[in-house]
Amino acid sequence: MTTTPDFAIQAHDLRCAYGDFEAVRGIDLEIRSGEMFALLGTNGAGKTTTMETLEGHRRADGGTLSVLGHDPYTERPRVRPRVGIMLQESGFAGELTVAETVDMWLALSSSPLGERGRRPDTAVEAMERLDLADRTDTRVVQLSGGQKRRLDLVLATITRPDLVFLDEPTTGLDPESRRRTWDLIETLRGSGTTIVLTTHYLEEAERLADRIAIMHAGRIAVEGTLAELVHDRPTQISFRRPAELSSADIDRALRTVVGPQRLETVAGDGVVLDVTDAQQALGRLLGWADSQGHRLENITVSQASLSDVFAQIAAGQQKQEELV
Ligand SMILES: Nc1ncnc2c1ncn2[C@@H]1O[C@H](COP(=O)(O)OP(=O)(O)O)[C@@H](O)[C@H]1O
Ligand SMILES: [Mg+2]
Repeated sequence: MTTTPDFAIQAHDLRCAYGDFEAVRGIDLEIRSGEMFALLGTNGAGKTTTMETLEGHRRADGGTLSVLGHDPYTERPRVRPRVGIMLQESGFAGELTVAETVDMWLALSSSPLGERGRRPDTAVEAMERLDLADRTDTRVVQLSGGQKRRLDLVLATITRPDLVFLDEPTTGLDPESRRRTWDLIETLRGSGTTIVLTTHYLEEAERLADRIAIMHAGRIAVEGTLAELVHDRPTQISFRRPAELSSADIDRALRTVVGPQRLETVAGDGVVLDVTDAQQALGRLLGWADSQGHRLENITVSQASLSDVFAQIAAGQQKQEELV
């Protein structure tokens, strides 16, 4: 397959099967060099299978795949030294200290320089980068969950790879550990490393990723920048229903004033309105309330989020499951 050097990963109609079951059903991916790409999806969507194939751990059963210009499975020796992988489960010997673990890892990964001539970190540099400098003599088994994940991240990036795969890097971390891990990932991205990330936390993808793909049932359901993914979704306007108006009053008034929109009354006196033109709808709503002497409390305007997009895809999954 011909590749463009601008792309770290190019996949076309990629397929992976377990026996008769096709877990990845023909996906296209183009991940540019230096890009941070997030792969999201419902459970069983095929994320892990896709990651393992991109990492060269599994041979694709169909389609074409190029990672850093090579087939990651058949040309593994050319690809693997330039790739860092942070698995979801770390497999450290808990009895070793942090420094011993980092030293051992450095000794094992005698990788040549990456394409951009990067040298591996020394153990000390790596631990300073990770805020673990004061933990060098601590045994791995004694680290907190967040510290262990940061150690995983050091080890995945210690040879300064051109491409890094992070499988759920912050799952189970407390908010502070998560924030520190995000800082590290952002620093990594700032150094030009291409990063492919899976996560269950939508805000993680929203915050970190240049582009996002949401997988569902072996296919990529949607793909693009965050702005592209939420572009066509309605904005929600919500407010508290004034006590002098019934639900029916509000319903009637809004249909006349704002136009026919999806309208919902929630939690007793909450009103939620989906609109496509938020500025126009809000202007009309406030104009109407002022002219009629109604006071609207708790007015909020919220743009569609990734979680709205995700929920819609997951709802599609449920419908499919009911049909099976
Ligand atoms: N070793 C396996 N043998 C058979 N089916 C598998 C195996 N691993 C995963 N699957 C199935 O393949 C599908 C995709 O799994 P996976 O890639 O782990 O999805 P995700 O990571 O998105 O949750 C699921 O339906 C899962 O049950
Ligand atoms: Mg998985």
